[in-house]
Amino acid sequence: MIDSKSPIGIFDSGAGGLSVLREVRALLPNENLIYFGDQAHVPYGARPLTQIQKFSETIARFLLEQNSKIVVVACNTASAAALTHLRETFREAQFVGMEPAVKPAAETTRTGKVGVLATPATFQGALYASVVERFASDVELFQDVCEGLVQEIERGNLRGEETRRILYSALRPMLEENIDAVVLGCTHYPFVIPLIKEIAGDKVRVIDPAPAVAKQVKRLLEAGERLNKNPQSGQIRFITSGAANAFQSNLRTLLDVEAKVETALWRGDDKLIQSA
Ligand code: DGL
Repeated sequence: MIDSKSPIGIFDSGAGGLSVLREVRALLPNENLIYFGDQAHVPYGARPLTQIQKFSETIARFLLEQNSKIVVVACNTASAAALTHLRETFREAQFVGMEPAVKPAAETTRTGKVGVLATPATFQGALYASVVERFASDVELFQDVCEGLVQEIERGNLRGEETRRILYSALRPMLEENIDAVVLGCTHYPFVIPLIKEIAGDKVRVIDPAPAVAKQVKRLLEAGERLNKNPQSGQIRFITSGAANAFQSNLRTLLDVEAKVETALWRGDDKLIQSA
């Protein structure tokens, strides 16, 4: 039975969705959370959309079996590839997904030029095309896939040479075109905001959609009368399909959190088995 104590399920290809978990936590501290990072398959970004859809379906089923009252697809790539499919497959469940925050950028740009950083799969998906068509028809967009950046962030390299090189080569051509906003279209990227700001300077606004996603989760739970009001609540379970100790180190580097990590391992593409 789903009730207010049931957890909010959150998933990503790896540790990137922790940037969304952080916002959900800050806004809804009483909520129990389950985070699943598919580190056995990270990165998703260059994979075929059909494969990402299959992984997402299996992870969503796994989180729903853990009694999640809502599932946050804290991954732009999985949202692009699978959000519609998830809503059609699990009709009783509620999903919140990510989409590149092109709308707020288009509304506020003064130069009419905006940079978007996301994965190849996100740029290929119908969701991005529809966001651009609806909100950015009179804005010039400059896109970059920041090849290798997700892996560097997974390794905990938030300021090192390679991370700096990738960001510099993504941002420099956009800055030369006079962009005044950068949209973070991948949930891993908020963890390198300090470096992005250092490279782009303070005239460029960096837009992270995670706070808006947390607000949307709150709105939906309020509307369904499923907000957890118990201040004694607020547990978080972290689960990875990769190595527990590697994810523990992600938690330390990215959130400054020490926590137990559980594992759930893949059997084919359509089953996740929890190990003790
Ligand atoms: N965090 C991801 C996103 O928001 C996935 C990146 C990847 O696995 O390539 O798109």
